Amino acid sequence: PASPSSVPPPVTAASAGAGRANATAAPFPADFLWGTATAAYQIEGAASEDGRTPSVWDVFSKTPGKVFEGHTGDVACDHYHRYKEDVGLLAELGVKSYRFSVSWTRVLPDGTGKVNPKGLDFYDRLVDELLRAGIVPMCTLFHWDFPQALQDRGGFLQRDVADWFADYTTVVARRLGDRVPWWVTQNEPQAFIGNALLNGVFAPGLKLPYREYLTAAHNQMRAHGKQVDALRAAATAAKIGYVLATQVQRPATEDPADIEAAREAIFSVYDKNPWNNAWWICPVLEGRYPESGLRLFGDDMPDFPASDFDQIKRPIDYLGLNMYSAGTWRQGKDGRPERVVSPPGYPRGTLDWLQIVPSTLYWGSRYFWERYKLPIGITEHGLATRDQVFLDGKVHDPKRIDVMHRYLLGLARAVQEGVPVVGYWAWSLLDNFEWAEGYKDRFGLVYVDYATQRRIPKDSFSWYREVIATGGRSL
Ligand code: NOJ
Repeated sequence: PASPSSVPPPVTAASAGAGRANATAAPFPADFLWGTATAAYQIEGAASEDGRTPSVWDVFSKTPGKVFEGHTGDVACDHYHRYKEDVGLLAELGVKSYRFSVSWTRVLPDGTGKVNPKGLDFYDRLVDELLRAGIVPMCTLFHWDFPQALQDRGGFLQRDVADWFADYTTVVARRLGDRVPWWVTQNEPQAFIGNALLNGVFAPGLKLPYREYLTAAHNQMRAHGKQVDALRAAATAAKIGYVLATQVQRPATEDPADIEAAREAIFSVYDKNPWNNAWWICPVLEGRYPESGLRLFGDDMPDFPASDFDQIKRPIDYLGLNMYSAGTWRQGKDGRPERVVSPPGYPRGTLDWLQIVPSTLYWGSRYFWERYKLPIGITEHGLATRDQVFLDGKVHDPKRIDVMHRYLLGLARAVQEGVPVVGYWAWSLLDNFEWAEGYKDRFGLVYVDYATQRRIPKDSFSWYREVIATGGRSL
């Protein structure tokens, strides 16, 4: 048998519980939202066109030494001009849904106040194009491109940030709310608060003391709550979610003791780095900070009125989980959860953090469903590779196919066991600007030649099309 720490053997449909007994039964429901996801700064380009002003990422990417080889999102995939071609690709892929984000500074160049009609028009056209193609839009309101003008006014350290978010949300929801059913308030708070304001590796690149970092996180969650209220008011049919950079923890074996150990790990704060789930989800869904984190942060905890929790904990409709990788846990000799170190040479993508753990989607969906009883959306999953065009003119990416296949079998198991998973949005439709890594690593189902902007669907594109067309029977 495999040692507890090793990567499990290939999963089959049967071992994943997808079941082949009834050859006609698809492992995923007919209304499952098969999709892909992108984010504004990573694909749009047109950074200073039609009234758009700089976000923190425009400033950061132009600061020497911050992004790999000085790459910026100035042009990116030029999606702002090529969105029709890109929606055409989505239609060819056969997706049911597309998750995109809105660039705040396109819509509100000063961050607050005066609306820029041209900016808003772009999303209006995009949504209409999607609907014409029969694709259900999912709109992420905030995917890290915070207005520089608001950063200059103190950003997340200001309590006002919650109102800035609410006002921006109202503007977008009033315009798109009649046609966009699925909404995300914020994408991955761990990344834009933790990586941006504590670790300093994402825009705006600050290394704040813990107390200020915790203040920023607190205001970020207040902002989320106010966004929920703004959405409810302006888009009455909206299905509203909040998206975690999910730190999945999985058990080393399916022994109940190990399952409990990983469950404790997935909902605890173990150290002061931002990479945990509990700090970012307990206030939002339980109206409190997790005890494990309060103990760790001690006197660094900022003061705030208890009534803030009423503002933070607003009812939402689903939980968005971005899931790429998982840590492994077992019950230690002392009965406490113990982390299992991965063996040398374990498989991963070209980004070091992206360890390939096929059961990630299974355990992640299951643990979150069991605790919160909210429908789950797999709002991102994918693989970073360094694809190239082969001599035959095609882009062969067998590793992406293999990884998506394994992960989807894990997700099928969750669905078969009764976890209500509403959809899976592959990250990403296109190769794009991978933040501090620039264009070095590619996540797309479609290859982008950045010199010509030519799009070449990779082998994984055809493979995913088949998965969608068969409702997962082809897995
Ligand atoms: C999470 C982020 O939401 C997305 O912007 C990023 O490109 C992917 N993960 C891959 O790192």
